[in-house]
Amino acid sequence: MAEGWPEPMREGTVDVTGYPMYYRMCGPADPRATVVCMHGGPGATHDYLQPISDLTAHGYRVVFYDQLGCGRSARITDTSLFTLEHNVIEVDELRRALGLGSVHLFGSSYGGTLALAYTLAHPEAVRTLTTAGGVADVPFTVEEMRRWISELPAPTREVLRQGEETGQFETPEYEAAMMEFYRRHVCRLWPWPPPVSYSLENLSRPVYLYMNGPNEFTITGTIKSIRLVDQLGRIRAPTLVTGGRYDEVSPRVAEQIARAIPGAELAIFEASSHMPFWEERGAYLDRLRRFLGGHSRPGSGA
Ligand code: ALA
Repeated sequence: MAEGWPEPMREGTVDVTGYPMYYRMCGPADPRATVVCMHGGPGATHDYLQPISDLTAHGYRVVFYDQLGCGRSARITDTSLFTLEHNVIEVDELRRALGLGSVHLFGSSYGGTLALAYTLAHPEAVRTLTTAGGVADVPFTVEEMRRWISELPAPTREVLRQGEETGQFETPEYEAAMMEFYRRHVCRLWPWPPPVSYSLENLSRPVYLYMNGPNEFTITGTIKSIRLVDQLGRIRAPTLVTGGRYDEVSPRVAEQIARAIPGAELAIFEASSHMPFWEERGAYLDRLRRFLGGHSRPGSGA
């Protein structure tokens, strides 16, 4: 899908650990700074992060990519590469291959986990860090998702419970109940913006099932025990932690990250869930732009 992306735009692949990894780079050739966006899932595609490309109107270059195994990148099936550590290597190779220098990182959901892990591993390469519905402690995040489920109507809760009991996650009843959760806690706009639908409809099943699990609130995959909070005190990059009031990755999770990172700013968007950059696009981008502006070359301010 090319609609909605700003010009100039360049797309292609770079070789990452021997596999072609897709990127899309938007914005001017002489940018005031570069923002690298990391998608969640794990297993989604970059498309749902499209609103971050609004920054190009303010002189930023914005780079998107699909993690290996996902979207337009090599659909690798070697599960030994489906790890947070390998995802960190992928971003670093992308940054070097495209000659991006030190960058502003933007990570959504699991992409937030990845942005935190990347900053811990390569502090010199990160100018600032922004998470959106980012996760540092998966067990706590799941507890919070369970709290959202406890607020769903009783019949919906019952269908979800039965699905878990039987392991039947693909019946029409279960999918309808799951969508009720998604419409409240993943993206509250309806219908969903086409890039959001695209990223979810084109989830890499192998990556998602292996790393995440059958759906957003049933995290049984390999990320289920990730806990980074104890390490976050080492982060020195200026940090903006964002989320939505109704975010499946709840505001308490965002608060937990903001508390752990020295000097981090916290912004919760009151009418949003997991995609505040769509649900409150103007306000979200203003907030992000103000934050980045303090740590970039002067721009047009347009
Ligand atoms: N499934 C969550 C995400 O979207 C963790 O990345």
